[in-house]
Amino acid sequence: MHLARFPRRVYTPHATPIEKLTHLSAHLGGPDLYIKRDDLTGLTGGGNKTRKLEFLVADALAQGADTLITVGAVQSNHCRLTLAAAVKEGLKCRLVLEQRVPGSYREDASGNNFLFQLLGVESVTVVDGGSDLNAAMQAIQDDLAREGRKGYIIPGGGSNALGALGYVACAEELLAQTYAQGLPLDHIVCASGSAGTHAGLLVGLHGNNAQIPLTGINVRRVRDVQEGNVHALAQQTADLLGLGAVPRGAVTALDEWVGEGYSIPTPGMVEAVQLLARLDGILLDPVYTGKAMAGLIDLVRRGHFGRGQKVLFVHTGGAPALYAYEDVLRA
Ligand SMILES: Cc1ncc(COP(=O)(O)O)c(C=O)c1O
Repeated sequence: MHLARFPRRVYTPHATPIEKLTHLSAHLGGPDLYIKRDDLTGLTGGGNKTRKLEFLVADALAQGADTLITVGAVQSNHCRLTLAAAVKEGLKCRLVLEQRVPGSYREDASGNNFLFQLLGVESVTVVDGGSDLNAAMQAIQDDLAREGRKGYIIPGGGSNALGALGYVACAEELLAQTYAQGLPLDHIVCASGSAGTHAGLLVGLHGNNAQIPLTGINVRRVRDVQEGNVHALAQQTADLLGLGAVPRGAVTALDEWVGEGYSIPTPGMVEAVQLLARLDGILLDPVYTGKAMAGLIDLVRRGHFGRGQKVLFVHTGGAPALYAYEDVLRA
């Protein structure tokens, strides 16, 4: 796929490594588990949003924007990375934070919230869960326009077709790595939230006719709704690239490990975060990769994958949020 025709800022000037999870694989006694270290992308603290922002910020700059506006949850990794990209580009950044769990915003909270302040966010607007987030961002853009400034709105999670190109690029990168390393993958697993990562990977794999099944693990929504969201965004991304139809049957977004709701800890998440840290020295996060890894571990224990199969987990980052969940994870 000819991705170089899309304007792009380069925030990760190298491929992220694929590593074998030697000890976790032995501990579980099932397939050989590998991890794509997208927690090691560029910008402050790394993570999946860095790849999406390469395309989105290039578009913002092309449009002459001086301020990035975006939205996320109170511990949003996406907001941290959007702000970090703004700092790097000499832009300002204004954030809308949605209290998806009522009362969850605390001005003095650690984790990503602390980094919003440290990185010099221009303003934070806190809204209740279920608010009209587009309207909140539009109001900020209108305020800026009245001051003669130009705001560029990035949707939640950077998840539109342009942002999803970052994960089309990731699929191409990992296919090249598996070829170079002689690693014939049988399956890929990733967290599925605002859907850009899942949709982009799907389009990149499908567009290359890779024939590697991809399973998303939901962190928020029920399966049907999420699969519909992923499929719609995958098709928009494929259209942007001039590819044909994306088969609906290629979209799987399992929902058994969400627990009580988005960002609410589960015993499986705590176990997954602790296992990865203690067995392979890798930090997951409590909201996305912890729950997605809990899903992968459970699938392995249920015998979903054959012994000796090669399964890759895409580590989408998020470790700064660990510092807002110390009480749960110390136990
Ligand atoms: C660490 C981490 N992993 C995974 C996701 C989910 O990715 P997406 O929103 O592209 O579905 C997010 C989204 O915020 C995230 O912060």
